[in-house]
Amino acid sequence: MPTASDAWQALADWQPQKLTDLVAADPQARLQALVRNVADIRFDFAKTHLDDAAIAILSGLADAQDFGGRRKTLFSGGIANPTENRAAEHSAERGDGAPESVHVAQALHQRMRMMIDAIEAGAFGEIRHLLHIGIGGSALGPDLLVDALGRHSDRYDVAIVSNVDGAALDEVIANFRPEHTLVAVEYKTFTTTETLLNANSALQWLDEAGVADPLGRFIALTAMPDRAIEWGIDETRILPFSETVGGRYSLWSSIGFPAALALGWDAFADLLEGAAEMDRHFRLADGADNICLLAAFADQIYANRLGCQTRAVFAYDERLRLLPDYLQQLEMESNGKAVTLDGERLAQQSAPITWGGVGTDAQHAVFQLLHQGTHRVPVEFVVAREPDHLLDDAHHETLVANCIAQGAALMTGRASEDGARAYPGDRPSTTILLDQVSPRTLGALIAFYEHRVFANAVLLGINPFDQFGVELGKEMAKGLAEGTIDFDPATQALMKAALGD
Ligand code: F6P
Repeated sequence: MPTASDAWQALADWQPQKLTDLVAADPQARLQALVRNVADIRFDFAKTHLDDAAIAILSGLADAQDFGGRRKTLFSGGIANPTENRAAEHSAERGDGAPESVHVAQALHQRMRMMIDAIEAGAFGEIRHLLHIGIGGSALGPDLLVDALGRHSDRYDVAIVSNVDGAALDEVIANFRPEHTLVAVEYKTFTTTETLLNANSALQWLDEAGVADPLGRFIALTAMPDRAIEWGIDETRILPFSETVGGRYSLWSSIGFPAALALGWDAFADLLEGAAEMDRHFRLADGADNICLLAAFADQIYANRLGCQTRAVFAYDERLRLLPDYLQQLEMESNGKAVTLDGERLAQQSAPITWGGVGTDAQHAVFQLLHQGTHRVPVEFVVAREPDHLLDDAHHETLVANCIAQGAALMTGRASEDGARAYPGDRPSTTILLDQVSPRTLGALIAFYEHRVFANAVLLGINPFDQFGVELGKEMAKGLAEGTIDFDPATQALMKAALGD
């Protein structure tokens, strides 16, 4: 069997063909090989440089990196995160994992559901607003879900505050009535400075507004219940989740509480079911039939053969406008690593820089660079068949036509004698077409991205589930604020200029 370095060498020797040639050669075969439908989502990789040779090389790499073994470890609750010596059990939240973990996840979901029933039944008085405080994985996922799926829901106003900049919290509490507000403090570790400060200020706001028992309005969503109790939240108002569910993989656990409250339990259950459908696909499909692995193959040829340092995701759907933000954390915090599982320096490029925006707005802002700039950027379009409005069909038709046209224009380009008006073409894109933006399809889509990240990590031989890179900055920020670290003169001068002595 070829080793991983043989496979990387083969990838270096592989010569990509022109996209237009690939697509023209045998269109039927290409569509059959590179377009798949899973969970009512069409994943289209036809406009990438993937060809049979590249797929064979990358399948060899997957074997050499023990893709099958690592996937089994992931789904069986084994140590998928060796640097922290723990499992990565987000799929157990969706019913796929070690039986004991699935059982625990279901029991904790039940507890979350009972809390929602209690709120709906008026156990906290007349609750209209939910102030959700959390950051990173404790905010981006719920924010995406509520923004995408809660637009027509009149159940509760949910506001998600993450930034430590007081302006964020201030803006929300200006519009919320304290007597009708419930506060959900989301933090996995119960140690994050920003969240703690925002929680304290929210408590003060309720207190100053004369709310009786302000702490009684707090619910904690955490993997560290003891710390929440210590902070003052009663055990009955803690919705725990397992420590083996990573922050950026946690929206399926009680971290999804704001979404479950805003959308209703049935919608949350559908979200889990959509993700479970993708879990089954990822666990069972082999080789290039596995859409998450196929996507990772494309990612690897761009990052590690064709020199692409970034990957752009454009949602041609207002409901999915937060998807690029969500993916930035998922992809960059997971795979932005420089060390392999064996502790060696990674010889390849790790995660590309994920960025993106919303179509068609982005066409009038950043697409110039995509069409004519010197960078080659693989672009991902995410679009839905069904619109979210009852306005004239022209809106949706124009939106979708623009999305599809961009992919075609990037691929074909256009020659011109006048350099400024020439489009080089041969620029890759993938298109993900959802039947509709529903809890089920969004669950499947997010799970697809999670498993794609995992598949990339396996191909690279890295651990996607730790995030030590963020620790140094946190320590230094604390040291700077407390004056406990002797900083360099440039930093000291800057600190003095910004905050005085
Ligand atoms: O600083 C990074 C990080 O630890 C993320 O991994 C995590 O999603 C976020 O901070 C928030 O952590 P917590 O939920 O513990 O506040």
